[in-house]
Amino acid sequence: MTGPRTGTIFDALADLIRRQGPLTFAQYMAFVLYDPAWGYYTSDHPRVGDRGDYYTSPAVHPVFGHLLARQAADIWAWLGRPDDFVIVDLGGGQGHLAASLLAGLARDWPQVYDRARYFLVDFEPNLRAAHRRLAEEPGDLVARVEFTTDLPAGPFRGLVIANEFFDALPVHIVVNRHGQLREVYVSWQDGLVEVEGELSDPGLATYFDRVGVRLPEGVRAEVCPAGPQWVRRVGQLLKAGLFLVIDYGYPAAELYSGRFPRGTLMCYFRGGYHGDPYRFPGTQDITAHVDFTGLALAGRECGLEVLGLITQAHFLRNLGIEDYLRALDRAVFDDPESYQRNRTLIRSLVQPGGLGSFKVLFLGRGVGRGLWGLRGVRPEEPTQ
Ligand SMILES: C[S@@+](CC[C@H](N)C(=O)[O-])C[C@H]1O[C@@H](n2cnc3c(N)ncnc32)[C@H](O)[C@@H]1O
Repeated sequence: MTGPRTGTIFDALADLIRRQGPLTFAQYMAFVLYDPAWGYYTSDHPRVGDRGDYYTSPAVHPVFGHLLARQAADIWAWLGRPDDFVIVDLGGGQGHLAASLLAGLARDWPQVYDRARYFLVDFEPNLRAAHRRLAEEPGDLVARVEFTTDLPAGPFRGLVIANEFFDALPVHIVVNRHGQLREVYVSWQDGLVEVEGELSDPGLATYFDRVGVRLPEGVRAEVCPAGPQWVRRVGQLLKAGLFLVIDYGYPAAELYSGRFPRGTLMCYFRGGYHGDPYRFPGTQDITAHVDFTGLALAGRECGLEVLGLITQAHFLRNLGIEDYLRALDRAVFDDPESYQRNRTLIRSLVQPGGLGSFKVLFLGRGVGRGLWGLRGVRPEEPTQ
């Protein structure tokens, strides 16, 4: 971490590397995304939506949050209709999901809405933006929300949602060189350069043993120790309920099969994307695909049941996205463009190869496999 901003982020990185030596990629990613002075996520930059760098499902259309409200009401019923029902929005960003999920509950399940406490967890600048968004919503939505930089104290009963949270956590990069795992570091030689060295932590090698795969020769891959750590933290606090992880990624056997020989890093900048994490440090998002096997195993370790891993398209169809499309067909629009725009955006939430191919991991405690979002779906086994 650095003090106040002086010079450019490249000066700050050069200085850090001079003082500390080459950075692991996870240290580099933590710096350029989360450093209080320089980080992408800790700035006031508009990240999501038309003026930002990327779209997430809650920002694409409020129907996503309305459908998650159905899943929340279902969990509330599974838990025996508790008087205190906690919803945690981990990495809740600028409040798009909070606004639409709570509006859906208020409209369709007022009995759940009245008993819900919603915790939006993120960094300060996002919390301020989310507060502004929710304060503009009708009713008392903003009063339902606690804006916080960490998980609420447990134990609690309810629903934890992490939408595109895990893909933004810092990752280490490793590569298999002649049967030996080597780590990729970020150094400085008139600019940022990559160098290979010994593993910074032997846990990076044992990670592959844990998830039961061997990285093929020459393949480069990301490992995210922070992901399982967050799952364990949630698992310790969630006394009963559901933890939904919604993100792009694969089970380990696929992610590390050699299908992605150069890894899966992806950077988002002003509506476009590319694969160079050194191009616009501090002003672009950097993501990596999620290893759902590592998250599922961490869930099991703390007593969460792995209920299923399905695509977002399956999940949203189970929750009734077609009802919204039919309602749209029946609605009267003065402006046909508005009908078409809404239809296209709602359909994009289930688009194969796009948001529809995102995965939803269900980790539960005290809730069964008959959940609304899992109905009629034969769950894939995420740890194989
Ligand atoms: C890609 S954004 C997704 C935002 C939101 N969930 C959505 O779907 O629009 C990832 C979010 O996770 C937040 N985040 C990442 N690491 C975090 C941490 N350690 N604590 C709190 N928030 C974090 C980021 O600030 C960012 O808002």
